[in-house]
Amino acid sequence: MRSYTLIAPAKINLYLEIIGDRPDGYHELIMILQSIDLADQIDLQASVTDKIRVRCDNPQVPSDNSNIAHRAASLMAEEFPEVFAKYGGVDITIHKNIPVAAGLAGGSTNAAAVLIGMNLLWNLGLTQIELEELGAKLGSDVPFCVAGGTAIATGRGEQLSPLPSLDAIYLVLGKYRSLEVSTAWAYKTYRQEFGSSYIRDANSLVSRAEAVHSGSMVKAIVHRDAAQIGQNLHNDLERVVLPIYPQVLQLREVFASAGVLGTMMSGSGPSVFALCESQQQAEQVKFHVEKTIPDEDLELFITRTTTHGIQVRSLV
Ligand code: C5P
Repeated sequence: MRSYTLIAPAKINLYLEIIGDRPDGYHELIMILQSIDLADQIDLQASVTDKIRVRCDNPQVPSDNSNIAHRAASLMAEEFPEVFAKYGGVDITIHKNIPVAAGLAGGSTNAAAVLIGMNLLWNLGLTQIELEELGAKLGSDVPFCVAGGTAIATGRGEQLSPLPSLDAIYLVLGKYRSLEVSTAWAYKTYRQEFGSSYIRDANSLVSRAEAVHSGSMVKAIVHRDAAQIGQNLHNDLERVVLPIYPQVLQLREVFASAGVLGTMMSGSGPSVFALCESQQQAEQVKFHVEKTIPDEDLELFITRTTTHGIQVRSLV
């Protein structure tokens, strides 16, 4: 019986700009995505049954088909029915470290790990591009989680262009355990409140009226200039999430007052990160936040940017 252990990193959004709505109900985006070394562990084991089973040590995470990792395995079974019939089912065990519903792609990276792991388990020989295409059927962030590192993502987030990698920039990440933000709610609310600022250009494409600033962030990444990266952080979804969640706004303000390189909500939130100059500064900032917001509900992590995506750790 073969098994694989995979390490599945979370992501943060260094940049998220909503440039328009789309007829399919999604939004046209420009994002800059970055893997971080806060990661889940996924164990995959070929099963003697013909079932796909998911277990997770975090009770917030469902084990049925509403779990995107389960859907990833079902997708592989649908795409490769003969291989599924030959090898049978798969047992998936998720050891959760990434906060759930936090804007950190915790579910998407689990799904990416299942795709990569089942490609190995079933000897499918799929390329990274093919795995990214399968990932796009599961969720907009899954292709990036398959690729990892640093990338610019357009379309609904599934079209990727790699950027020079950013290694070992320290950050402090904060998430209130009891707060969860639905990504669908955040985008829907954005469309209701700010959709009128989109303009239609000569080709009838919908785009936002304001200027695009992603170029400054790309330049900062190319120069590996952490201070400039901190200055150019951007996330349009803050416009809908921060007014509803004052704790998230407060956390962002406390980070900013600690003299970090920059601070921003990740994805649809509610996690907030602060980029730091060094590990020492990250430790000081974490200590400062713990003293200023003495709330048991607030979970704080020190983590770093990383250059890789899913890592396959062992084969038994
Ligand atoms: O693709 P994913 O399932 O992760 O997206 C979750 C929800 O976020 C979608 O159902 C959609 O409502 C919203 N979304 C969007 N535009 C995007 C990505 C996600 O409106 N580009």
